[in-house]
Parts: sequence; structure tokens; C-alpha cells
Amino acid sequence: MLRRAPSHPPCRASRKSPATLEVKRLEDLARRIRICIKCPLHESRTQAVPGEGRADAEVMIIGEAPGKQEDQTGRPFVGSSGKYLDHVLEGTGIQRADFFITNTVKCRPPANRTPRTDELDTCTALYLFEQIRLINPKIILLLGGVAVKRLLGLKSVEQARGRFIEHEGRKYLATYHPAVRFYREDLTQKIKQDFELLKQELRKDPRIT
Ligand code: URA
Repeated sequence: MLRRAPSHPPCRASRKSPATLEVKRLEDLARRIRICIKCPLHESRTQAVPGEGRADAEVMIIGEAPGKQEDQTGRPFVGSSGKYLDHVLEGTGIQRADFFITNTVKCRPPANRTPRTDELDTCTALYLFEQIRLINPKIILLLGGVAVKRLLGLKSVEQARGRFIEHEGRKYLATYHPAVRFYREDLTQKIKQDFELLKQELRKDPRIT
């Protein structure tokens, strides 16, 4: 689901106007993702999940992979992890609708296993890197170890979190995957701190806030 900017954008994290060509290319990419059969994950998926949000988002959120409810609906972060993501976003005063939200791979791995290297290679090379290029966000928020390893080449979230990282011409913030709170409640405070950093950074940028 891709939304165009209204003529008077009301929200804080999306003040660029997306060029029509970029919007069309993103829509075309989403169409290709929905029919993709380039890796084995297509065999078990119900629906691919291209991502959703603003084509002119200043902040892009990248998770790991669709879960069961995402697979059924074709939308990212709508299950229990998504509810928690909405909750932490609410705490920062930033609207979910202001972001573009997607995943490293666009199809649900069987039984929610971690995506394999070949699946990650295929899906990021064909789709994720192109989405980043077209949206051209000011900040990329990475949720969880899979996204951190793939986008930053770092070993763990712990290594990456708590600061902004400039990498290959882009600005990243990393935090734990929202699902982590189901088994590591002690990390919820760190997640909140990382979202607070995002909020402060967005406040600093007059084009965003
Ligand atoms: N977990 C993810 O990493 N992405 C989703 O879209 C849902 C759950």
C-alpha cells in the first residue's frame, strides 16, 4: 500500500514531495514483489509483503521478515510485533503513517525461521536496496539483528544501537526487534531509549518537524 503525499503534507516525518516517477517505480516494484518467485520463500507464502507507507518518508523502518498475520494480509507489522511497534511509535508522538515500513525479505519464512543468506541476498538485491534508493530516506531505522547484519554488516544489535551510524552515505539507527520483548522484557527500556533518540533527531531537523 503506497500513499502519495497530500498537497499540504500535515505530518512531521515526510516533507519531501515524491517525484511521480519514483512513486510509479515503487508501485511497479511492489507489483513485482507480489508475483516474485526468485527464491524458495515464494513456495510457502500466502501473500508477499512489499511494504507500506509514504513514498516520501523521511524515515524508513526495516524489520526482518513478515510473520503469520503479515503473510495473510500482505501488510508489514500488523501482528503482535506490529502492535508493539505502534505502541513505541505512539510514545514518541510520531505517526506510523509517516514512515515507510518494510522488511529485509518480503515473504514469510516457514514457521517464522530466520531468513537464509541466499534468500536475503536475492530479496535485498532485487527489492530492498531499490526501495531505499527510490524513497531516499534521511534515516533508516533497523529493527533486529537480521536487518543490522544485512544493512550495516555488524554482528549484533548491541553493537549498533544507542547512536546514529553513517554507513555508505546513509544514516542508520538500530534497535531490537519488537518481538524481543516476548522473551527479553529487560530490553523494552532500551527500545524506548532508541525511539527517543529518533524523536530527538527528527526534532532537530526543521524540514521534518
Ligand atoms: N516481524 C517483522 O520483522 N516484520 C513484520 O512485518 C512482522 C513481524
